[in-house]
Amino acid sequence: MAIRRIKTGDASCLYKLAKPVVKFDEKLGDLLDDMAETMYHAEGVGLAGPQVGVLRRVVVIDCSAERDGLIEAVNPEIIYTEGEQAGMEGCLSFPDEQGWVVRPNIAVMRAFDRHGNEFELRGEGLLARAMLHECDHLDGKVYKRLVVPTPEDYKEEE
Ligand code: NI
Repeated sequence: MAIRRIKTGDASCLYKLAKPVVKFDEKLGDLLDDMAETMYHAEGVGLAGPQVGVLRRVVVIDCSAERDGLIEAVNPEIIYTEGEQAGMEGCLSFPDEQGWVVRPNIAVMRAFDRHGNEFELRGEGLLARAMLHECDHLDGKVYKRLVVPTPEDYKEEE
């Protein structure tokens, strides 16, 4: 396992479409191991392939307080969303920045594990937010394009 360098800011790989994984091999396992180690080292709750310069549809997520709830998702797809949540969001590719983002409160993701077994995961609140945020990365979309003024920003204008 190795910690990979996280691409930040204007790095072009953050704005490109990632390709589906076709080989569920040892190289994929190594990539997922490295991504998890990199995410934990950076104290993030999620990391997507493009953020380490790999334009493949892979993400890792861990929203647990104990940092023992690793989710690995290969070729993930959001197949259902419901409700709405609004809150501050950040990204390891934009360190020391946060923005107010409105997203669905519930999301269901269909994906494959590292061995090619399909699974579905339902997330609510932070987990839904992380799933949606990471899947966006695979389409070259960063959260910053979704940032809107906070309720406090509106108040100041009154
Ligand atoms: Ni991110």
